[in-house]
Amino acid sequence: MTTPIPQPPGVPLLGNIFDIDTNNTWWSLKTLAEKYGEIFQIKVLGHRIVFVAGAALAEELCDEKRFRKYVGGPIVEIRYAVHDSLFTAFHDEASWGIAHRIIAPQLTPAAVASHFDDLIRCTDELLTKWRGLDPETRFRPLDDLNRLNVEAITLTLFGKHLNSLNGPEHPIIRAMEDATSEAMKRPNRPKLLNWLVHGSKFKKATKALRDFAAELVKDRKENPSDRQDLLWTLMNATDPETGTALTDSQVIDEIVTMPIGSSTAPCAIAASILLLLQNPDALVKARDEIDAVVGDGPFTQEHVAQLHYVAGLVRETLRLSCAAPGFNIEPIPKPGDESPVLLAGGKYQVPHNQTMIIVLAGVNRDPAVFEEPLAFRPERMMGDSFERLPAGVKKWFGNGKRECIGKHWAWEFLVVVTAKLIREVDFEAVDPDYKLKQDGWFNVRPIDFQARAKPRSR
Ligand code: HEM
Repeated sequence: MTTPIPQPPGVPLLGNIFDIDTNNTWWSLKTLAEKYGEIFQIKVLGHRIVFVAGAALAEELCDEKRFRKYVGGPIVEIRYAVHDSLFTAFHDEASWGIAHRIIAPQLTPAAVASHFDDLIRCTDELLTKWRGLDPETRFRPLDDLNRLNVEAITLTLFGKHLNSLNGPEHPIIRAMEDATSEAMKRPNRPKLLNWLVHGSKFKKATKALRDFAAELVKDRKENPSDRQDLLWTLMNATDPETGTALTDSQVIDEIVTMPIGSSTAPCAIAASILLLLQNPDALVKARDEIDAVVGDGPFTQEHVAQLHYVAGLVRETLRLSCAAPGFNIEPIPKPGDESPVLLAGGKYQVPHNQTMIIVLAGVNRDPAVFEEPLAFRPERMMGDSFERLPAGVKKWFGNGKRECIGKHWAWEFLVVVTAKLIREVDFEAVDPDYKLKQDGWFNVRPIDFQARAKPRSR
């Protein structure tokens, strides 16, 4: 006997349309996960989606012998901007394997470490900005962290210093927001409305993103250098398996994908600042570790692996912030077999082609795994305690073949920037009672979290 998958009551004909706020889908899903637990479903206009919000079921869905990434909804919409790029390619598209084999060597831990000095340089520019603020100035840390992310990605992977930490915001930040918000909203609107009313916004954002990438390529062609970075690789390397090179358009696709993918990282750091303000004991422990490891001298690449408490803090932030809020899964089709798919040893049953979404806001706070799941405890993300956790609660970078290709870059960025902020800046929350509320599209970020900053007092 299978157990029916819980579903909010909904309304006749329209189903659960009012259970999801399309301006803040992930917050609605978090709320539903809190109410319904490990699995729930919604039906909108006869279309059913299943959501998995428990650690054990998430781990089951990460079994690549049975399930795979579902490329549908917003991911298909964003193909308007990036076509068959790494993030958006369908399973049967050879372009995924070609691009993956070309790009992956540029994003290994060693390749990422080779950009350490550039990362420090950008981070120091941000710190100079924040240390120089009038201590009474209110600002939203996320705004500047977004700038830092674009600056760091462009400098480390594409060799271009944008100088965008000060002055007007770089247009690519608005373009990413517009393109990803459109991609999330389009599947829920009538096609005619998308085309007539919202088409020009999507087109304009796509043009801005692709122009940005094309400019980087043009700049490199006009100023050849011996820098063998990701841009060089995209423009020159061939796939070791097929000998194929990327076309000019594919080079642009993959360049655009990188800042969009990495835009999750500043959301996590903004959440870290908030969590540390709410947990001063953790801040003291992190500072003690950084002071012991780095001391008064320069921060070096060798220090990164020695910051165990900071690593725990970053993982605990990824767990609680769910900066990348989830990912889509479908059963691997079995030709000629349309029998239902059983989950949890037969407890639940879904159709053979059911789209499922893993909601990390539920999975990462599963009370079956975590004691006091809402508490911020970096220690549980360190050493043996971390190793012992089930695989299902460590999926902040996605899963398997389609796991985040930028995870080592992201890790370096998160550890270095967080450690430097903790080491050098004192933050104060403008509203000491601020409670985390998030919104977002392909990532989630704290809404209107404001702080004040001053140089660290020792
Ligand atoms: C905290 C930072 C980050 C988090 C939490 C994160 C999370 C994720 C997740 C969950 C996926 C899987 C998406 C899916 O299954 O549909 C993914 C894929 C991807 N990410 Fe990240 N990401 C981060 C940073 C980055 C960075 C820095 C880059 C680029 C340098 C990047 C580029 C990508 C790309 C290209 C993919 C698609 C990979 C493929 O399908 O082959 N991400 N990321």
